Amino acid sequence: MNIILLGAPGAGKGSQAAKLKEYYGIPHISTGDAFRSNIARGTEIGIYAKSFMDKGQLVPDDVVVRIVAARLAEEDCKKGFLLDGFPRSIPQAEALEKLTKVDYVINFVVDPATVIARLGGRRSCVCGETYHVSTHPSPICDKCGATLFVRDDDKEEIILNRLAVYEKTTAPLQDFYAKRGVLVNVDAAKSVDEVFEEIKSILG
Ligand code: AP5
Ligand code: MG
Repeated sequence: MNIILLGAPGAGKGSQAAKLKEYYGIPHISTGDAFRSNIARGTEIGIYAKSFMDKGQLVPDDVVVRIVAARLAEEDCKKGFLLDGFPRSIPQAEALEKLTKVDYVINFVVDPATVIARLGGRRSCVCGETYHVSTHPSPICDKCGATLFVRDDDKEEIILNRLAVYEKTTAPLQDFYAKRGVLVNVDAAKSVDEVFEEIKSILG
């Protein structure tokens, strides 16, 4: 099953991807995580991507497409994959069409006020786990014991920029995939477990 998780920043894509990866046993490919890992390792791609990410702008399409194309060519993607945060523009979606077929695009529907509240309280871990400070006040990751951190782009003015970029450049993908008959909306304002159940009922 080749699945795209589409939705605004903070819609809950990463939280669901972690659960879906376990449940379906397919790899989770997050372009945001790939860039953050490059930043942590101080690679050339990381330094380049950081200059866009810190402003809440998109990293140029050619760089992102190259990373995804290389990852999709790996053996573990043959049985299916979960794309999280890619594609994010029409040119990225067109490039993906040349690489592989897409079975489902899960569209996370949620209002801007909710995502602002979610991102403002998000605490992230190097292991990839994500928490919200209201439900997990401890600064320590339950999974690996590392100290949680606030992502550089989870500051209010950057969050607003990311939302504006989403509306202008990424939201048109809803029509793009609806026309191809693969778009399914989920109510992403519900709890993590409820959203997970809804996605499972779609994917079977
Ligand atoms: P990326 O890392 O993809 O970030 P994003 O799309 O902005 O999305 P987030 O990770 O912020 O949100 P999420 O939907 O995963 O929510 P989460 O589950 O964490 O991209 C970062 C940057 O990298 C981009 O701005 C860009 O610069 C660059 N980039 C990446 N991909 C690119 C591409 N394809 N092209 C160009 N540039 C690219 O949840 C958020 C919070 O809410 C958490 O605290 C969580 O605990 C909580 N939460 C989640 N679900 C629920 C729920 N149902 N109820 C209550 N709380 C919830
Ligand atoms: Mg994410």
